[in-house]
Amino acid sequence: MWRTAPSEAEWQSGVETQSDAETQSDAERRLVPGQVHLWRASLDLPSGRTRELERFLSPDELARAKRFVVRSARDRYTIARAVLRNILARYVSEAPADLRFSYTEYGKPRLARPATSPAFNVSHSHDLAVYALTAGQPVGVDVEYLHRRAIVDRLKIAHRFFSDREYNALAAMPPYRRDHAFLACWTRKEAFVKAIGQGLSCPLDQFDVTVGPDEPAELLATHWDVSDAQRWSMASIDPGPDYIGALAVKTGDVRLSFWQWDHGQFT
Ligand SMILES: CC(C)(COP(=O)(O)OP(=O)(O)OC[C@H]1O[C@@H](n2cnc3c(N)ncnc32)[C@H](O)[C@@H]1OP(=O)(O)O)[C@@H](O)C(=O)NCCC(=O)NCCS
Repeated sequence: MWRTAPSEAEWQSGVETQSDAETQSDAERRLVPGQVHLWRASLDLPSGRTRELERFLSPDELARAKRFVVRSARDRYTIARAVLRNILARYVSEAPADLRFSYTEYGKPRLARPATSPAFNVSHSHDLAVYALTAGQPVGVDVEYLHRRAIVDRLKIAHRFFSDREYNALAAMPPYRRDHAFLACWTRKEAFVKAIGQGLSCPLDQFDVTVGPDEPAELLATHWDVSDAQRWSMASIDPGPDYIGALAVKTGDVRLSFWQWDHGQFT
């Protein structure tokens, strides 16, 4: 099922002003089944401010940050985790640094407690992170920066990894449309494999999504369960001018709202 991508204006500020503090925080903290709150955040911060954010991270997260060889990758990981903790803290009324994550066998993070905490998923690319939260329905999100150096033959990759149906749809397009269509298809597929928690361990040729960037984002079929297409919703999301994104959530009916993280909101 497709939902419209937001216009720039639809990313609401998550900043609480005096006049709307009550309604804003209520809206942010309440998640009902079928609802998805999408947050986006810039990962571009001066180094000094990034170091300050380390106070939110757990010892294992700090250790992981240290393992990044490239400084920019380390900083982006730190910022993305600090923002994740601060966003989640609003929904579970705990201090960001007190939140504990556990990880599935494929590495998908979730809140270790409480039992009623939201389900969430994160994607980051270049200078941007997007966070999707639900009332517990499995959710996956993927964003890609559009201006990565094109070093690959998209059709070759699609032939190797996509389903036959997707490859054929891509191959039938005029070459000038293929780059964008490849990324539209890729983000939809990645959002789905992240939602089911398997990530790229899931064979990507075992399910079909729509390919055209102007086509509604949709899970057409999985090759293992005929009823999956009815159970899942997908949406294209427009995280900003230089990015493309998609969302997958296990619910037949989905309502999205869009929130902009402002770095002045750190608690
Ligand atoms: C998850 C995966 C698809 C990420 O792809 P990507 O495009 O490089 O990265 P994205 O920015 O979109 O997503 C990264 C985020 O997804 C989340 N994530 C990690 N593993 C995940 C999984 N299996 N399913 C869903 N989400 C996952 C994390 O929050 C991660 O953010 P973090 O690195 O800051 O913690 C890919 O790394 C993967 O397939 N990992 C699984 C590997 C595996 O099987 N590991 C087993 C041993 S842990």
